[in-house]
Amino acid sequence: MSPTSDRPIAPFGRRAVPVDSVRRIGPYTLIEITDLAAPTAKAGQFHMLATESNWGGTSGGRPFLARAISFISSNGEGRFGFLLHTVGPGTERLADVNVGDNLLVVGPLGNGFSDPSEQLRPILIGGGIGAAPVLAMADQLTAAGRDYEVILGFRDASHAELASERPNCRVVTDDGSTGRHGTVLDELQILIDSLEPSQQVELLACGPPGMLEAVRTFASAEGLEAQLALETPMACGYGACFGCVVPTKSGYVRACVDGPVFMASQLDRVFADGPL
Ligand SMILES: Cc1cc2nc3c(=O)[nH]c(=O)nc-3n(C[C@H](O)[C@H](O)[C@H](O)COP(=O)(O)OP(=O)(O)OC[C@H]3O[C@@H](n4cnc5c(N)ncnc54)[C@H](O)[C@@H]3O)c2cc1C
Ligand code: FES
Repeated sequence: MSPTSDRPIAPFGRRAVPVDSVRRIGPYTLIEITDLAAPTAKAGQFHMLATESNWGGTSGGRPFLARAISFISSNGEGRFGFLLHTVGPGTERLADVNVGDNLLVVGPLGNGFSDPSEQLRPILIGGGIGAAPVLAMADQLTAAGRDYEVILGFRDASHAELASERPNCRVVTDDGSTGRHGTVLDELQILIDSLEPSQQVELLACGPPGMLEAVRTFASAEGLEAQLALETPMACGYGACFGCVVPTKSGYVRACVDGPVFMASQLDRVFADGPL
């Protein structure tokens, strides 16, 4: 199985789409748009987003390049939710929009998660802002009538506020301020130990490189299928700049068109080039 097949393709060009809603959830910001030109997207695909105004070139300077953002929700009719973690000027300006402001949107881009095998129980694992595509995948599996498990890991209760809107998720925090004290890997082991020995699982994960590398190592040691959504820094988002290449067992590939979702078995390791 490869997560590169049957992907929805983005319409050509950049579209100006007004913001429908803006909401703070702990330290994150959820913005929603209705992009009627967009095809139905697959969880794990992403959009390149910029604000129409105040996006470099004037007194504010940077950022210029649009930023890659996964969707956390999609109704299949153009309504998309994006969850933003403010880490720099791009996410700061995106999170600062008001209802009615225009976003410049290209997407959906990339491959997205593949449908997990019917024989395997999907276990979805999200770390921090990586919860966004994982929760989109949870909705996609619910719509398909599939059972699944979700593990979400956050640094503390404030970051975990998002999980209070998803009561069926298993939550862990680094400081134990809510949910179980520990890592998503600790929770994954507890979950797998609780399943019938005959129950085979498939892992679908998104999060920081250290977490993804731990999931990859675990999957490799246990002989499990795993799909990993990388959040490799991107410049264009559609294959033109080669700024997002990642090493795989078959050579360097562009994460924006050959990913961002890779089978763990395609990778020797998940590289942490930066703090993404
Ligand atoms: C496929 C894909 C999906 C993504 N989905 C989302 C999403 O749903 N929501 C979201 O908020 N972001 C998401 N990102 C990450 C986002 O695109 C980057 O964090 C982006 O660089 C932010 O731009 P910026 O201008 O705010 O920060 P930058 O100027 O790019 O970075 C500012 C500083 O923060 C550091 N930094 C960058 N990213 C992070 C990070 N994640 N955590 C900690 N430090 C960081 C940089 O190294 C730099 O020092 C995604 C990235 C990819 C490739
Ligand atoms: S971001 Fe430009 S090729 Fe991938």
